[in-house]
Amino acid sequence: MDERKKLEKIVSLCKQRGFVFQSSEIYGGINGCYDFGPLGVEVLNNIKNYWWKTMTGQENIVGLDASIIMSPKVWEASGHVKSFSDPMVDCRSCKARFRIDDLDQQNIEQCPKCGKQELTTPKNFNLMFQTHIGPSVDSSSVAYLRPETAQGIYVNFNNVVKSTRQKVPFGIAQIGKAFRNEINTKNFLFRVREFEQMEMQYFIPPGTDEKWFEYWREQRINWYKEIGIADENLQVVETPAEDRAHYAKRAADIEYKFPFGFQEIEGIHNRTDYDLTKHQKFSGKKCEYFDPMTQKRYVPYILETSVGATRLAFAVICDALHEDEVKGEVRTILRFHPKIAPIKVAIFPLTKGEKEKARKIYEELNKQFKCIYDVSGSIGKRYRRQDEIGTPYCVTVDGQSLEDGTVTVRDRDTMGQERIAGKALKQYLAEKLNL
Ligand code: GAP
Repeated sequence: MDERKKLEKIVSLCKQRGFVFQSSEIYGGINGCYDFGPLGVEVLNNIKNYWWKTMTGQENIVGLDASIIMSPKVWEASGHVKSFSDPMVDCRSCKARFRIDDLDQQNIEQCPKCGKQELTTPKNFNLMFQTHIGPSVDSSSVAYLRPETAQGIYVNFNNVVKSTRQKVPFGIAQIGKAFRNEINTKNFLFRVREFEQMEMQYFIPPGTDEKWFEYWREQRINWYKEIGIADENLQVVETPAEDRAHYAKRAADIEYKFPFGFQEIEGIHNRTDYDLTKHQKFSGKKCEYFDPMTQKRYVPYILETSVGATRLAFAVICDALHEDEVKGEVRTILRFHPKIAPIKVAIFPLTKGEKEKARKIYEELNKQFKCIYDVSGSIGKRYRRQDEIGTPYCVTVDGQSLEDGTVTVRDRDTMGQERIAGKALKQYLAEKLNL
């Protein structure tokens, strides 16, 4: 499929089938904000749940859910007030605003919108959203919506160490919303103003950072394979010094091949002792770890893994989308990994006569897997509908089912069908889905 067409097809399918809607659509929409619909929220939750299980399923990684609005001092200490900005230019003619890296690098003075050479000199634009706490709107009440979830973990370092008695190396994982007042939002869910991050901060002894960097890079790339992302659509790229965030000594991006090219979905950052040292300085409170073996105190280094859940949901949908031809007609399929598929099994009665039995099967299976019951349209149409939303298995109850209790199970990817004894169905699906 042509890559530009693919993107258009994804945006349209996402809307039609209830994965993603433009935010506030009935008011004309709001730029850079999207809503996850009934199926999209299942995909997003499946991604988040699997990440959470992967991280906090490990004995030395614990979870946290910090508040979005934090003391504004956090962002002074972290360097975000001073450095979390993009250089941008305005067009004097059409008034549009652009990030420098979104300009045509061959023709850096030309406005990409109106084509005139009327761009201002670059100015830094801070990406944090500001708000005010309490009734007064002045500089003393300024607060920020967090641009990354990480800081909520750092400022709780002492609390977590004390309450859980974790020993370095250990990690703290968090999933939550982050906000960035991006200058140019683009490419659907790729760069938005409100999104979710899944971040894990791994606290390690200084001097072991290179070793842990390699370890987490390996772990994280393998994780994408576990959720079914095609190998050839993933790559890891080391970030050159000039492109690294202000806190990173070393960074690598895991990139996914979107229809518009390879782009970052996750950053692995060696943040050294930058953040904890800054918080010590600004808060006046020690953020140290006492090593019971060596009897020494030190500020741990931090190795961070940071994925955008929203951006990953987009990547997962791009990766799943396929078309093939069945009896001269184009079949659209989302080949989601069963872990990610929003609906795991669809149950159809072939005719009205099998409704009661099919309904019973649906109610039973739905206790274990997210299922859908569909009676409307021909069987062919019902299969296509499920293919389009990525349901791995369809169970059809027909006349023979009423006689001998068997049902047919149809596989989304091969379209092959098997007749299974009703009693064996749950076990059969559990093995196939392997959730
Ligand atoms: N705590 C480190 C951090 O926030 P980042 O590279 O700025 O690092 C991490 O962001 C991830 O968050 C990115 O890899 C991306 O998946 C996601 N992300 C960042 N900005 C985003 C945006 N405007 N829209 C959607 N996702 C975004």
